[in-house]
Amino acid sequence: MKLVIVANRLPIVVKTIEPFFALQSPGGLVSGILTFLKKANISNWLWMGWLGTNIKKNEFNKIKEFIHREYNYIPVYISDKLMDRFYNGFCNKTLWPLFHSMPAIANYERIDWESYVEVNRIFADTLLQSIDIDTKTYIWIHDYHLMLLPKIIRERVFNANIGFFLHIPFPPPEIFSLLPWKKELLHGLLGSDLIGFHIYEYTINFLRTLVRVLRIESNIRELFYQDRIIRVDTFPMGIDFKLFNSMTGIDDKIENIKKAVSNKKIIFSVDRLDYTKGIYNRLLAYEEFLKTNENFRGKVVLIMNVVPSRENVEHYARMKRQIEEKISQINGTFGNIEWVPVIYQYKSLDIQDLVAYYRASDVILITPFKDGMNLIAKEFVASRSDLKGVLILSEFAGSSKELGEAIIVNPNSIDELCEAIKVALTSSLEEQKSKLKVMQERLEKYDILKWGNDFMEAFNIILSKRNFFKTKEIDEIILQKIISNFKISKKKLFLLDYDGTLVAIKNSPELAILDQEVKEILFKLSNLKDSKVVIISGRRKDELEEYFKDLNVVVVAEHGCWVRDQYSGSWKATCTPNNEIKKKIKEIMEYYTYKLPFSFVEEKDFTVAFHYRLSEIELAGSRIAELLDELKFLVSNTEYGVLMGNKVLEVRPLAVNKGTISYSFTQQGYDFVLAIGDDTTDEDMFKALPSDSITIKVGLGPSYAKYYLPSQTEVIKLLKKFVEQN
Ligand code: UDP
Ligand code: G6P
Repeated sequence: MKLVIVANRLPIVVKTIEPFFALQSPGGLVSGILTFLKKANISNWLWMGWLGTNIKKNEFNKIKEFIHREYNYIPVYISDKLMDRFYNGFCNKTLWPLFHSMPAIANYERIDWESYVEVNRIFADTLLQSIDIDTKTYIWIHDYHLMLLPKIIRERVFNANIGFFLHIPFPPPEIFSLLPWKKELLHGLLGSDLIGFHIYEYTINFLRTLVRVLRIESNIRELFYQDRIIRVDTFPMGIDFKLFNSMTGIDDKIENIKKAVSNKKIIFSVDRLDYTKGIYNRLLAYEEFLKTNENFRGKVVLIMNVVPSRENVEHYARMKRQIEEKISQINGTFGNIEWVPVIYQYKSLDIQDLVAYYRASDVILITPFKDGMNLIAKEFVASRSDLKGVLILSEFAGSSKELGEAIIVNPNSIDELCEAIKVALTSSLEEQKSKLKVMQERLEKYDILKWGNDFMEAFNIILSKRNFFKTKEIDEIILQKIISNFKISKKKLFLLDYDGTLVAIKNSPELAILDQEVKEILFKLSNLKDSKVVIISGRRKDELEEYFKDLNVVVVAEHGCWVRDQYSGSWKATCTPNNEIKKKIKEIMEYYTYKLPFSFVEEKDFTVAFHYRLSEIELAGSRIAELLDELKFLVSNTEYGVLMGNKVLEVRPLAVNKGTISYSFTQQGYDFVLAIGDDTTDEDMFKALPSDSITIKVGLGPSYAKYYLPSQTEVIKLLKKFVEQN
């Protein structure tokens, strides 16, 4: 396997004055992925990205040589001007605020968008020039800077293996839809085989957005798009728990920090300079705390470390000024010759210093307005091997989903933050210990290695599913082959679905009536020598009886629960209904018809179906997911199972389905078996039939069938061809 990591930044920022040297790039993306690569023992990996500094093309070539000598990195060259529009512009003035649900400060400049398109194209060019992509190459693209890249690569190398992970939140559709280029971004992402998010909320936001913007629905987080299967899933990024938990050799550093503040209580705060991190509100809360808790004055310090970030973006520069003004105001108001209430540092700490601060602190204050994950919170918890310290964490940080024992706060409420500081500073050692212990156990189990391995495993699973779906269109050559097999065969079996196959799909089932022409074709087909026609449907037997009463064909109703004999015309049940469970299913479904307008329940002898063809697509998505959960719970450990069809959800006996019943017909010595269907329920039939059967799906889309016909009318033309052979 060759793993190619593609991210906006390389893991290093190169200082461009000779002799060149490199520092680790800021942010959770770089620290997380680098740790994963080291821990997972993946030997064959490459990392492609921008150098992190603005340089001229001739300098770039020199640095490229330096990088190739020292690292397995592929630097991407982007000119200063383009980078400014792309990075400071579209990435950090448009996407960053919008994805962090702050649309009021998002800019929509067409020229920035064009630069984004251009940079994504340059990344694709560099990738394809530098790497031979084969079936063993896994391309793993990261974050919001490169959302068009999956599609661009897919267009050039159709079979490439492409995974994508978003390190920031994915906003709700109402917010995402504000973006003028929303469709382009979604199509870009859908070039991937696997798309991952930190938490379930972002995954759901993305799936809802697909429904709303592109009308694409998913089934249990898998969706079909342009003839491909794509998985969308949640992978909460972890940390290297052991590294933080068992770090040694930093005791002196810890002592020095404590001594420097004369053993006062320490509240620690560390983040990149970013308006999403809630740094200013944190200061307001600390100010309020000092105002209202005189007894703590002189006894506590806030050590605030801000890591420089995106200073060329106006909002960041402004934020820095505001923070610094507020700090001097607090220090001026409350401080004295012996006590500085806020100790401020504007720099990046290395990992030893960072852990020393984590361990020296009594409280850590992490209060973002919105944060994809926030690894700082996890690192603090892991670092406290002494089981001391209190974490105050915003409910809007992704990590709050895994760190529920922390003091969870709403960063918009200064009162709540102020109260949380007080509670944290007075929390008992017993309480600190018990909370940290539970959180540590969780972080140790789902660490960075597990995160990356889970992603890679899901990647492999989805790639393996690709091969199931290799359906070919029936062209003239295939048609001639089918006809000649038909002609030389001695015994022929036709297995034909009803709705969507023999009749076109209608808004209401009673409108889908078999027309005279099709009836005549079926009549002739069933009267051919040594041939049997089986109509195989999920419909009720009385409806099918009405349509097929004059025809000498076998009819299967309710997905195989009823079978009508070809000659006697009598119906036989293949299993026994469970009326008690059916009653409960019906009650639940009927309740959901109130929650989902234009849905209705259909009760059959063995099964109960919930139809929602005319319901509003987005509401249906969430209601059906809820209904599915309830029904699955109800029928677990019973002989019933839930089946998803095309805009219908049906609960029916597990013992029979279109697969088992159609297979049973093939056991009567046929040397020509042809099956046609359009729905997901027909996939059971395609899967179950002997491998030499001719299986045909109606409509383009992933299927277990060998062939497809573009529309229902083509089915009738094909059946006519067989009849004409006589
Ligand atoms: N970090 C660091 N030095 C610092 C501050 C932070 O190395 O002075 C690292 C920290 O260990 C963490 C990452 O930067 O792994 C920050 O990730 P997080 O998810 O908290 O925030 P992001 O910066 O990605 O928004
Ligand atoms: C967040 C983003 C990363 C980014 C990092 C640092 O973690 O998800 O993609 O690299 O912040 O930001 P910067 O703009 O300096 O790369």
